[in-house]
Amino acid sequence: IPQAPDILSAQFATDPYPAYRVLREHYPLLHHEGTGSYLLSRYEDVERAFREPVFTSDNYIWQLEPAHGGRTLPQMSGREHAVRRALVAPAFRGRELRETFLPIIERNARELIDAFREDDEVDLVAQFATRLPINVIVDMLGLDRADHDRFHDWYTAVVGFIANLAQDPKIADAGRRAGEELAAYLHPIIQKRRAAPGDDLLSRLCTAEVEGVRMNDQDITAFVSLLLSAGGETTDKAIALIVRNLLAHPEQLAAVRADRSLVPAAFAETLRHTPPVQMIMRQPAEDVTVSGGTVPAGATVTCLIGAANRDADRYTHPDAFDVRRPDLTPDTAFSAAAQHIAFGLGRHFCVGALLAKAEVETSINQLLDAFPDMAFADGVAPPDAGVFTRGPRQLRLRLGDHRR
Ligand code: HEM
Repeated sequence: IPQAPDILSAQFATDPYPAYRVLREHYPLLHHEGTGSYLLSRYEDVERAFREPVFTSDNYIWQLEPAHGGRTLPQMSGREHAVRRALVAPAFRGRELRETFLPIIERNARELIDAFREDDEVDLVAQFATRLPINVIVDMLGLDRADHDRFHDWYTAVVGFIANLAQDPKIADAGRRAGEELAAYLHPIIQKRRAAPGDDLLSRLCTAEVEGVRMNDQDITAFVSLLLSAGGETTDKAIALIVRNLLAHPEQLAAVRADRSLVPAAFAETLRHTPPVQMIMRQPAEDVTVSGGTVPAGATVTCLIGAANRDADRYTHPDAFDVRRPDLTPDTAFSAAAQHIAFGLGRHFCVGALLAKAEVETSINQLLDAFPDMAFADGVAPPDAGVFTRGPRQLRLRLGDHRR
């Protein structure tokens, strides 16, 4: 039997997938000393941890509260969670999303591409992927487009705070300061929207009411901050990953170029094969038995999404990137019949899943249109980095002979 893998090792950070396989096959429930948590790696176990109410997220390990200046959805459970979620979720699906937000996504993607359209090379992470999700959120909220860069700085500070787990005091201070600045910025605007609501997202948050509950200023600010972190880094990585994965598989890239109805499949397969969020924590409210062992009440469970998404009991040839795989039917509704665990499952299922899908699919379509010959700048696919969230740090592309 191979040794139990360490998810805090340098080897794991370089490539977690061999370790995930060892975990699934030999240690489906492992108490990991380094994090003091129990690791779950099999699809069926991770699915249970997301779906069964006994696994709560009340003490969310990612110290989200100071990062966001208040408690947010990921840390809530039960009725409080259901009501708070119902206040915000309708703005992220259906007609609102299509009619109001799709044009915002298309415009922002086009503007970012226009800025490097004539260049020979681009770093798609720095110049596109980290920018688009934040610009889209600013515009959805109906804020000043001149503030895109400011929001990008706040976003960087908040995400830095979360990744740092508040250990380096400088990073912690920068994160807290960003939160205060964001609150001070939003405060007067929230007053105006309460007095004269429009049809932007911020107005909706100001006026939403469910079972007599409304959001106060601090709730709204905390939610906007959550949007930056939950909607920013994840979508950023998903955009870089879909481009990287397709360029790394030229025959699949050619197929997607020729038949754009394959784009949703390429998105779903990217999220399955290389999920941007690799792990999520839960705490069982009472002792639970899983994969033959017991997790004591109150312990932390680390749900390894990256491992579950490659489980051979769930997917054929799980390590292959295959936009035509038969065990993914990507256009099914996102909720009940989820095809992978990259957006979580159950009551905390990603609120922004359809928005993320629209952003990533618009991005890849526009990039394919603009650059018929784009290729890796130095001919090789860049690796992924990161343990909690994972994706290429940079993605240098040669934009090719599109100029005549
Ligand atoms: C929740 C992943 C994009 C907002 C989640 C969760 C995952 C996830 C795994 C579940 C967390 C848990 O169970 O504790 C992703 C990925 C994305 C993405 C991979 C991009 C490809 C977005 C976007 C937004 C967003 C664009 C909004 C702008 C949220 C919110 C929650 C959430 C608010 C909390 C839901 C709750 O606790 O009820 N996301 N997300 N996400 N996501 Fe996303």
